[in-house]
Amino acid sequence: PGTPAPVRDLAGRRVVVSAGGTREPIDPVRFIGNRSSGRQGVALAQAAAERGAVVTLVAANLAQDVTALVEQAGVSCSVVRVESTAELREAVRAAGADADVVVMAAAVADFRPASTPDAKIKKVPGQGPAPIELVENPDILAELAHDRLRAGQVVVGFAAETGDKSGSVLDHGRAKARRKGADLIAVNAVGAGRGFGTDANDVTVLDGSGDVVGQAAGSKREVADALWDAVVKLLP
Ligand code: CTP
Ligand code: CA
Repeated sequence: PGTPAPVRDLAGRRVVVSAGGTREPIDPVRFIGNRSSGRQGVALAQAAAERGAVVTLVAANLAQDVTALVEQAGVSCSVVRVESTAELREAVRAAGADADVVVMAAAVADFRPASTPDAKIKKVPGQGPAPIELVENPDILAELAHDRLRAGQVVVGFAAETGDKSGSVLDHGRAKARRKGADLIAVNAVGAGRGFGTDANDVTVLDGSGDVVGQAAGSKREVADALWDAVVKLLP
């Protein structure tokens, strides 16, 4: 009786999952951030741990209630907390050096302030705000796909898309899959109550050439298991 024991098809594997959203400091008290709760990344870590993997979760600013879920991810999940994209990049590359799989589920800020003053920026009455100059962040996923920290390492990314005049969610996801060089890309529709902060998710899994290799809709845990199913097929 009860739920069946999970398949231990990741036994002996080391996996790294990044989760949450990075924050780029504007000054010591302010940042540029995003709405990622970390729920999908934590579900991935939890599913991998239950399937037997040794998991490192690189956690960027998880929502409070999601932090509590991390404890349930079990003994074989170690957590590295980071804030900025630079910190996330360092932590993922360090843990990824001996990993069989790296999954970039974190929402990484595309841009960061060009410089961060040591002191709080003050407003000058009557004067408008000074513009904040932004510079582009490194693309951690594209780097991982290009460098391959370890031979045979499976590199997985997400593509959060809304669709627009130039193409559908899947069109954009396909283009991103081809651009990034990762082995798998999980495409999901975001915005208008979908994707961020909710427990439901809906993903189409693409390979590096943009072909559909999997589909999952349901809880973030169900999506996580579907993504691991696709990963397991690629492991040597
Ligand atoms: N990603 C990353 N480093 C960045 C930006 C994104 O590693 N600087 C990763 C994300 O973790 C995700 C994937 O790349 O796995 C796609 O992120 P997304 O924001 O959808 O794509 P971008 O390439 O940033 O393109 P855009 O935001 O313009 O759609
Ligand atoms: Ca982006």
